[in-house]
Amino acid sequence: MDEEVDITTDEGDRASSTSYVDEAGSDRVIIFDTTLRDGEQAAGTSLTPREKLAIACQLERLGVDVIEAGFPISSPGDFEAVQLIAREVRQPVICGLAHCRPAAIDESWRAVQDAAHPRIHVFLSASDIQLAHMLKKSRQEALAMAREMVARAKSYTHDIEFSPMDATRAEPGFLYQLLEAVIDAGAVTVNIADTVGYSTVNEFGNLIRSIVKNVPNIHKACLSVHCHDDLGLAVANSLEAVRLGARQVECTINGIGERAGNAALEEVVMALRTRSDAFGLKTHINTTQLYKTSRMVSDLTGFLVQSNKAIIGANAFRHQSGIHQDGMVKESTTYEIMDPRSVGIPASSLVLGKLSGRHAFRERLAELGFTLGNDALSHAFEAFKDLADKKREIADRDLISLVSEELRQETQVYKLDHVDVSCGDHSLHSAAVRLIGPDGETLADAALGTGPVDAVYKVINRIIGIPNTLVEFSINANTEGFDAIGEVLIRIESDGGLYTGRGASTDIVVASAKAYMNALNRLILSRQHAGVKESTEEPAYRVHEAS
Ligand code: KIV
Ligand code: ZN
Repeated sequence: MDEEVDITTDEGDRASSTSYVDEAGSDRVIIFDTTLRDGEQAAGTSLTPREKLAIACQLERLGVDVIEAGFPISSPGDFEAVQLIAREVRQPVICGLAHCRPAAIDESWRAVQDAAHPRIHVFLSASDIQLAHMLKKSRQEALAMAREMVARAKSYTHDIEFSPMDATRAEPGFLYQLLEAVIDAGAVTVNIADTVGYSTVNEFGNLIRSIVKNVPNIHKACLSVHCHDDLGLAVANSLEAVRLGARQVECTINGIGERAGNAALEEVVMALRTRSDAFGLKTHINTTQLYKTSRMVSDLTGFLVQSNKAIIGANAFRHQSGIHQDGMVKESTTYEIMDPRSVGIPASSLVLGKLSGRHAFRERLAELGFTLGNDALSHAFEAFKDLADKKREIADRDLISLVSEELRQETQVYKLDHVDVSCGDHSLHSAAVRLIGPDGETLADAALGTGPVDAVYKVINRIIGIPNTLVEFSINANTEGFDAIGEVLIRIESDGGLYTGRGASTDIVVASAKAYMNALNRLILSRQHAGVKESTEEPAYRVHEAS
């Protein structure tokens, strides 16, 4: 059975393909990944440019055709990330989003212009409800804007995508007109967005059919779809669209995204592959990279993958009932429609130990998709040696925790320097914490709490002093075994914004402290970007010197 599993991809085809438009109508589905743009719009997510680059490098390994790296005009951080990815990630098309404003188009081009394959993605509301309430524009005005902005984008580069936002609630006649106009103006991909996840599978299929029938120049563009999951139909709608002629699917790793999320890349790709008998279509995805990519995205965004998640959930290939186990022992295809190895679920991920050197460490990280600069590598290597003293066997998951921790250092305004707790079932729970402040000053304090984590958080709050509410706290072991690294995920809320923090350590109280600091640092950075002035009379960051 093992030898029979086909886990190959069509890398050869990929290298030789030059035009995605030429492939519209072929049996090839273009995978457009928007994890770093729509995925990052999920409430509570904020990735640093370096974290985004790490994900983009892994997406390249995965073999996605297009990476939507961000929305350059939306913030300086987004611009920086898109530009960094455009310069570093050479194989896929790198796409920058822009709304229909000259400055947004220009900024998007500035961010992607150094890419080997740049794309500008222009979008505009197409439904009356959005035109009236958000843009306050008539259909005719919208048509003119779209035409003009696509032409502007086209003056920069050939590869232009246009999305009519909320297309599934747009008046069909107007939608056809809009699509025809933007294709005439130079759009080579048109993307039908079910922005609010409203469409049923039947309706979405009919819309695709009617677009193919009623837009006279549709054959000049690649027809794409972008489905949201508000009714849990994003993947089903995307698959129905490709069955009826769409040749690009926009999706995200783990299905993360605005509200209920986007179509999950791993589900779309594995459905096309596993049911090639039904679809007769292929992608260029190297499916053995799916699991690794999913873990990386989960680690860096803080969105945990539920155990029963299709394709990459912890239980996706576990068989519990006796009857199923019996079938599996006799012949795995009795209960398994996919081989776990085809999605890269590791049989064993034990790789490094105490005696492993810096070279082996760096090589393994590169295989996992992480490339660190010299300083970051040295820190991470020190942390690895430290961990190897506590833990005999270092698995890939440990390395990912460790490097994620290293990448998180970038967002630190305040650094956690020391945590000390006293706890037990009959004692008072107390904590002493020392932080290093933005100017290198030492800030220390101590407090009592209802438990050690509560005590630590109280101390940190007393030192930093920015009001916030803890809305989520979870703790997980990253591998099996009692010596596993504890990974803490928290979300805090402040002034209506959600901030995610993650921390990893073999000591769960330390991991909790790191996670809280990570979330607070993101909150502080966001206040700084918004120009919030911290009070100087009653400092927001009160200094409590250790006695
Ligand atoms: O959901 C949506 O409509 C979008 C567009 C920008 C494509 O994300
Ligand atoms: Zn979207």
